[in-house]
Amino acid sequence: MPAYHPPRIAAGEITPESIFLNRRGFLAGAGAAGLLAFGSSVPAGAAALKASESPFSTDEKLTSEDDVTAYNNFYEFGLGKGDPKAKSGKFKPTPWTVKVDGMVSKPREFGLEELLAFPLEERIYRMRCVEAWSMVIPWAGFPLAALLDKVEPLGSAKYVAFETVVRPDEMPGQGGFFQSLAWPYVEGLRLDEARHPLTILALGLYGKTLPNQNGAPVRLVVPWKYGFKGIKSIVRITLTDKQPPTTWNIAAPNEYGFYANVNPAVDHPRWSQASETRIGEGGFFGANRRPTLPFNGYEEEVAKLYAGLDLKANF
Ligand code: MTE
Repeated sequence: MPAYHPPRIAAGEITPESIFLNRRGFLAGAGAAGLLAFGSSVPAGAAALKASESPFSTDEKLTSEDDVTAYNNFYEFGLGKGDPKAKSGKFKPTPWTVKVDGMVSKPREFGLEELLAFPLEERIYRMRCVEAWSMVIPWAGFPLAALLDKVEPLGSAKYVAFETVVRPDEMPGQGGFFQSLAWPYVEGLRLDEARHPLTILALGLYGKTLPNQNGAPVRLVVPWKYGFKGIKSIVRITLTDKQPPTTWNIAAPNEYGFYANVNPAVDHPRWSQASETRIGEGGFFGANRRPTLPFNGYEEEVAKLYAGLDLKANF
């Protein structure tokens, strides 16, 4: 990311947890009806999503829905944190299909309705952006492994590549003379990272379908990695035997690596990664900063994936 953006967010905007938990109780009852209401088509705009609770969720205080949906990185809509919300009104997340191909026995396309039919779980995860801010977000999604199982990866597949949609007519950051990044935005994981139970495809947050600015209708969430690995508005997933190119590594290879595991011991060349600001807690610098945790606090679950790998060299 080119700059170190201090948040333009007022402190004290946290939705009281009791309100959110009440709504979750309501959704547990109303959700089945909500899903039935989808029928074979997905309504435009936010719709309620039913998601069961998960042991992988943190009980840390949630970042407010206002902050989660107004302070975003989605360069297809512009570089400012407010651009994705302000400039994504023309973007149409339905209808939608995701093509899954490459080194698999059963390549195929998945319609959004099929993705919504996977058993959805609520995953409350910390998200740590490489810019040294963090949030706690209640996602609704399902393990990526469940999707991969359907297409049966070949034994030779070693990596999973992801691609965001290209629609300059609906995404103003993809049009015009100045292009911030090369499109499509692309990302990748090793196959074992992709199959890890913490890795999900998210279809919603705060009990509703994803807003455009958060990557509607489907995005990746890998909570132990910097947020830029969480590619939004995915249209293609390809199994391959080669390490896939990734957008930020292409843009600045000395600053952003393929692995991008959250690591307080490896500083960004232009700033420290030792600590972070939790959005909504006020003040980008000073007393409110909290230490950044190795693997963003998911070390116990994922450190074993990297045995023998030099994480300082493979940043
Ligand atoms: N995906 C696409 N297609 N384009 C982007 O610009 N930004 C990334 C990631 N996914 C980005 C993207 C970055 S830098 C971060 S920190 C997260 O999305 C932000 O997710 P959020 O806006 O939902 O918090």
